[in-house]
Amino acid sequence: MAAKWTPDSWRSQKGIQMPFYRDADALASVEAQLGQFPPLVFAGEARNLKADLAKVVTGDAFLLQGGDCAESFAEFHPNNIRDTFRVLLQMAVVLTFASKLPVVKVGRMAGQFAKPRSADTETIGGVELPSYRGDNVNDIAFTPEAREPNPQRMVQAYNQSAATLNLVRAFSTGGYASLDRVHGWMLDFMGRSPWAAKFEQMADQIGQALDFMRACGLDAETVPQLGATSFYTSHEALLLPFEQALTRQDSLTGDWYDTSAHMLWIGDRTRFEGSAHVEYLRGIGNPIGLKCGPSLEPDGLLRLLDTLNPKREAGRITLITRYGHDKIEAGLPKLVRAVLREGHPVIWSCDPMHGNVVKAANGYKTRPFDRILAEVRGFFAVHRAEGSFGGGIHAEMTGQNVTECTGGAIAITDEGLADRYHTHCDPRLNAAQSLELAFLLAEMLNEELKERRAAA
Ligand code: PEP
Ligand code: CO
Repeated sequence: MAAKWTPDSWRSQKGIQMPFYRDADALASVEAQLGQFPPLVFAGEARNLKADLAKVVTGDAFLLQGGDCAESFAEFHPNNIRDTFRVLLQMAVVLTFASKLPVVKVGRMAGQFAKPRSADTETIGGVELPSYRGDNVNDIAFTPEAREPNPQRMVQAYNQSAATLNLVRAFSTGGYASLDRVHGWMLDFMGRSPWAAKFEQMADQIGQALDFMRACGLDAETVPQLGATSFYTSHEALLLPFEQALTRQDSLTGDWYDTSAHMLWIGDRTRFEGSAHVEYLRGIGNPIGLKCGPSLEPDGLLRLLDTLNPKREAGRITLITRYGHDKIEAGLPKLVRAVLREGHPVIWSCDPMHGNVVKAANGYKTRPFDRILAEVRGFFAVHRAEGSFGGGIHAEMTGQNVTECTGGAIAITDEGLADRYHTHCDPRLNAAQSLELAFLLAEMLNEELKERRAAA
């Protein structure tokens, strides 16, 4: 690891999962252009998120992170942004109502474009082409022209991120997220799910509480928190030329921030020692997520924590574990013990998506809802046994009525996957499945909290 960090010091480290651009001049000109664009977020906002996350470290808040596996240019539409935003709001309300903990809301939104792939190329019918790497790199269509990495796509991704973030900011503070509107967040097509009825009941109770408070003189005018919410953005910091171009020095503190999102994470494939991605992220002030899969050993994790969080700031690091439903209980305890032993302040968040991908008989990549739940259950079981706080969930989900993950209360079958399978990458929970997950998660979180309070 280079001793001195600069926004481009990652370039002398081992960079994998990034495209090769044939036209170096075109790349340089896009990088220069992006370098002049306004920041998407401010350093102060990233610091606010870090402070919110510090409360998760101590068990005084819960982290909800979710959104698309990959945002796409084709699915860019205000209704899609609104629907994902509102399912996240619903999930947050369910979790808060049950646990009485504040929920820190972070979208995989407004910048989640670049994808790591298990193979560099894809072969269909004897034709081999470069893999699709996300809409900010190349096009998903299976033609040589479409799959050629094009740096101009970074400009389009920036513009889409800016417009998405603008709408999300408006939703967060412009009245849409007001608790008064909790009934209005229900989506028509969720009516068939038993969890929709449960949500309506809860919304009635919240409505009564708000009426009572209003009679006491407390409403959105006197208590602004009731009428607005904080919402943050995040994505995998994979395409480093883009991230570097959005890296700016904060005028207040002199520290460097990646202004493309509030929180950035390192993927499971790029978190090795000596990686360009680790080098880049160690130097920015934002909160950082680190995906932890079965191949990560305790010593390696501790060295990564020393590199990424040498000052041991609380809220800086979120460890996003993604083992698989059948591996988590065997694999996670050794990481938890090492981190507790060394006293690193971290958030433990559960990604029950990436270790639970299966191929359906008809060829669709899917994730059975039961396995997703089983991993969440295993996650809480480990943290309860070890005395650590299981404090977050990381989900690939959408507000759309898609059919990508099987199971759930409105059971999606293998055959049903073909109906509305729209993802550009991994299968996402649909709106009804996301709400169901939130209710079941809330029960598990409550058990965890009960035990912690009894032990305190
Ligand atoms: C992802 O979050 O989309 C992803 C690729 O995850 P991981 O790095 O954990 O495989
Ligand atoms: Co994914």
